[in-house]
Amino acid sequence: MAAGTRIAVLRERASGETRVSATPETVRKLIALGAAVCVEAGAGLPSSIADADYLAAGAETGSAAQVLAKADIVFGVQAPDPALLEGVTPGAWIVGALDPFGAPSRIEAYAAAGLEALAMEFMPRITRAQSMDILSSQSNLAGYKAVLVAANLYGRAFPMMMTAAGTVSAARVFVMGVGVAGLQAIATARRLGAQVSATDVRSATKEQILSLGAKPIFVESLGIEGEGSGGYASEMSEEYQRAQAELVSGHLAKQDIVITTALIPGRAAPRLISDAQIAAMKPGSVIFDLAAPQGGNVEGCVADDVVERHGVRIAGYSNTPAHLPADASALFARNLFNFVSAFWDKYLGRPVLDEEIGGAIRLTQGGRVVHPRLTA
Ligand code: NAI
Repeated sequence: MAAGTRIAVLRERASGETRVSATPETVRKLIALGAAVCVEAGAGLPSSIADADYLAAGAETGSAAQVLAKADIVFGVQAPDPALLEGVTPGAWIVGALDPFGAPSRIEAYAAAGLEALAMEFMPRITRAQSMDILSSQSNLAGYKAVLVAANLYGRAFPMMMTAAGTVSAARVFVMGVGVAGLQAIATARRLGAQVSATDVRSATKEQILSLGAKPIFVESLGIEGEGSGGYASEMSEEYQRAQAELVSGHLAKQDIVITTALIPGRAAPRLISDAQIAAMKPGSVIFDLAAPQGGNVEGCVADDVVERHGVRIAGYSNTPAHLPADASALFARNLFNFVSAFWDKYLGRPVLDEEIGGAIRLTQGGRVVHPRLTA
């Protein structure tokens, strides 16, 4: 990587992807660091950013081939097709949400091309990396959007309303999985005036649920066993899962809206709601499954569709942040800028990774797949 690092910003090609990995704001900041930024024509349009805005921020624009020529760093929201990267100089970085477990052949192709693939979703959960954490920034927006979509599908109002024609009671919203998305879902549902409850397998979330004015629903008799490393959940024993399902079943039957967000890294999403549990819910209730892209928490959920089962509508998007393109892009782009700037070496004119973060996110290097979670 030579001084005068060139950063290429690709137009996203995945279906339904509306985000972009740099905004005029981050382009300006990257240039202020000393980088040159080349944005593929039309890259920002789905996020309402015109090529002229990138030009005004100091970027060049051009075709994919033009922006990739001599690129030292390639930015994408999703993993670019290796075929598109033919001709990119070996040693160049590919930075984005590379979905390391989703398509192993793509990661191998990056390695074969001599590229250094850096998967931002593997960013360690340490304080100094918080501003680079794409999972948090995108989950937060997803949690918000999930509640709005559910509210739209719901045939009643969220807040209690006392009118001359009578009283409308507040909707009951239940949030399952209280990570970043779940916390935002609780806060959003509360802002809309709903009565909110929530559950998780991690005990630390109990205080967080209470602090947002919601009611915690917990299996406590077996102890809380779901605390994994780095704030992530670990998989639960069958006994715990059964007890949790029982507690939750009774509660679910009284809910109007359910938002599910439960994920376990590297595994399919845990099943939280069965068809039998849906059958016990009130007709007209709505479930939004934020885990739809990882296989879903809810039986029968079909990503990007609204399915009706036993009078309950079940919805989930395959890419929820893409439904808030402008803000999702703004935050994603800032995550990538914060990453590059945190490691920027002003004497070398390029970023230099340290072992802790480099080792955590680097998938390929020197022609090989090097990440322990992919080589094990
Ligand atoms: P996630 O997206 O991996 O999972 C969502 C939630 O589902 C988690 O709270 C998890 O415990 C829960 N869950 C898993 N299985 C479940 C089940 N069977 N039933 C109910 N809930 C289940 O989690 P996310 O949003 O990434 O955050 C997890 C934690 O990590 C949070 O406490 C967050 O504050 C923390 N965090 C820390 C960061 C840092 O220090 N840099 C950055 C991001 C998050």
